[in-house]
Amino acid sequence: MRTLKVELSDRSYPIHIGSNLLEKAELILPALPQRKAAIVTNMTVAPLYLDRLRNALEKQGIESIAVILPDGEQHKNWETLNLIYDALLENRCERNTAIVALGGGVIGDISGFAAATYLRGVPFIQIPTTLLAQVDSSVGGKTAINHPLGKNMIGAFYQPRLVLTDIDTLNTLPERELKAGIAEVIKYGLIRDLPFFVWLEENIDKLKARDPEALGYAISRSCENKAEVVARDEKETGERALLNLGHTFGHAIENAMGYGNWLHGEAVAAGTILAARLSRVLGMLSEDDVKRIVSLFERAGLPVQAPEIGLERYLQLMELDKKVEEGKMRFVVLDAIGRACVRSDISREALSKVLGSDA
Ligand code: NAD
Ligand code: GLY
Repeated sequence: MRTLKVELSDRSYPIHIGSNLLEKAELILPALPQRKAAIVTNMTVAPLYLDRLRNALEKQGIESIAVILPDGEQHKNWETLNLIYDALLENRCERNTAIVALGGGVIGDISGFAAATYLRGVPFIQIPTTLLAQVDSSVGGKTAINHPLGKNMIGAFYQPRLVLTDIDTLNTLPERELKAGIAEVIKYGLIRDLPFFVWLEENIDKLKARDPEALGYAISRSCENKAEVVARDEKETGERALLNLGHTFGHAIENAMGYGNWLHGEAVAAGTILAARLSRVLGMLSEDDVKRIVSLFERAGLPVQAPEIGLERYLQLMELDKKVEEGKMRFVVLDAIGRACVRSDISREALSKVLGSDA
């Protein structure tokens, strides 16, 4: 097992990464202020892992209640959030009853928002079971639900007390979901870690084949990158925005195509290619670098062609992006592979070159 730390002074917390950690409930104990916890999961993950976690907790003398939600991005909304509040209230959960998210990014985001708001805030623990959640969404405290007009529009910054990443859970993850997670892994290489990008070029086939050593390294390196950024800019006043490479386009794709039809990681992949092409149009990135980026996403089995929803629709959806400042859209672009920056001076002409019919 490897342990990393997200340094946030008195709210610092560990990320434990390893095999068979679901059985090691003693690792969770330090984050539990009372001998009761509420596990939030979904109908897909519950039959796979819920009993193992509950039994391990029981052996440590922890009583748990389970809240089992419908599965899918389309359920990341108020209605499902209310199901969590209903269960917490019905089961008399108190200010010291921790909420444990057992699942992918949807479960992590919605349970984190429930934890931030139930009784004005209760302890929160992340047990991520998708690659995407293990490398990104479980770390850093962004919690949210979607609004019909925009993705993750209602939420809070609320850090977990612990992230417990059991790599073995990835063995049951569908292939398409594994690949979607790889999109967020590549992101770290692109925005701030050239050696990691090169490592990914050399090891992408091992990752796709779920080689445990390669997965362990990719998860650790991704979490190290994310933890460093979050420690420096928890509330996204600057550097943290770089973690949104490809997301301005990606969120527009997810919304336009209907939540759940394009997976988040797939939309981020196609969105990252758009961001790379935009960087090229701005004269920041060479054509060879764009080709190198496209090639890695292709080898990962991810979409590199964004859906054609039209320039106007893209612009309309992107105007709702959370990075918009004083009405101006802001885009994460690449200076080079391994170096990103935010630009707010992107012209309609530049965008039409990557999103319009002449793209
Ligand atoms: P997801 O949570 O929908 O999980 C993908 C699918 O895999 C689901 O059907 C789920 O039930 C299933 N699943 C989960 N674990 C499994 C396992 N071990 N075995 C078999 N099936 C399993 O999707 P995701 O890709 O994990 O997360 C995407 C969400 O994360 C999006 O809503 C996105 O906005 C959010 N996100 C948040 C952040 C953040 O910083 N908070 C960062 C990135 C993404
Ligand atoms: N996934 C982007 C962030 O956490 O800031």
